[in-house]
Amino acid sequence: MRKAVFPVAGLGTRMLPVSKAVPKEILPIYDRPAIHYTVEEAVKSGFSQMIFVTSRGKEAILNYFDRDVELEEILMSKGKREMADFLRQLSSLAEFVAVRQGVPLGLGHAVLQAKGIVGEEPFAVVLPDDIVLSDPPLLQQMRDLYLRTGKSVVALYRVKKEEIPSFGIADVEIKSDGLAVIHDLVEKPSVEEAPSDLAVIGRYILEPKIFSVLERTSPGRGGEIQLTDALRVLAREGELLGLIFQGTRLDVGNPVGLLRASLEIARKRGIEV
Ligand code: G1P
Repeated sequence: MRKAVFPVAGLGTRMLPVSKAVPKEILPIYDRPAIHYTVEEAVKSGFSQMIFVTSRGKEAILNYFDRDVELEEILMSKGKREMADFLRQLSSLAEFVAVRQGVPLGLGHAVLQAKGIVGEEPFAVVLPDDIVLSDPPLLQQMRDLYLRTGKSVVALYRVKKEEIPSFGIADVEIKSDGLAVIHDLVEKPSVEEAPSDLAVIGRYILEPKIFSVLERTSPGRGGEIQLTDALRVLAREGELLGLIFQGTRLDVGNPVGLLRASLEIARKRGIEV
């Protein structure tokens, strides 16, 4: 399993006005663009092809992972070898591929755009708004679970009551510490409708079969083609597991979350803030 799909075509409305000019995935968390952290997690988890589902105005994402030989040479001539080496290795982290989502029709629709590139292999979907800190990386734990069971896996996280309406929420049967069989999912329910407090966070390991399910999925909540609605089909067939994650999750898709993540990550790197 080597392919990881990153849906990055979104408008980033929670990050306006800055996202009018800069893709939200490029906004800094301390000193690196937000997208750097999730790509790093995928690389550490054994994925070698990063597929960005992108849109107009998002070119900066691919540029970040491209070589800039002129800049590297200038840095070398100024004796800044460490930064030159850092920039050079970005392009060799993985193979980077882009496909376009021309119209914003939802997360399920975005994933479907990667069908031709993914082909007939199981693959990961990584939402860069969710940064997770754990060792081993969450995606690696999920990949191992898939390899042991042959079933699709989503990451689950216990959220506070008031956060429930912002997530896909799972109806589960807990099997053991950290492992659940998912019976059903509801996209962004009210607190009353929610079957639990276990939210789907932005990590998925999926069978390629999901593409044919997505092709048959009608628009759901918000008039969008929801990945959650396609996952329900797998859940009802007993083909979907949940890995309940207990580490730190940082939501960097909103200004306060981005600020918190910057502080947390800077401190982890030994910077006094
Ligand atoms: C998406 C999914 C939702 C999931 C969330 C995780 O929602 O539709 O099921 O819980 O990501 O971050 P979004 O945050 O894109 O609205």
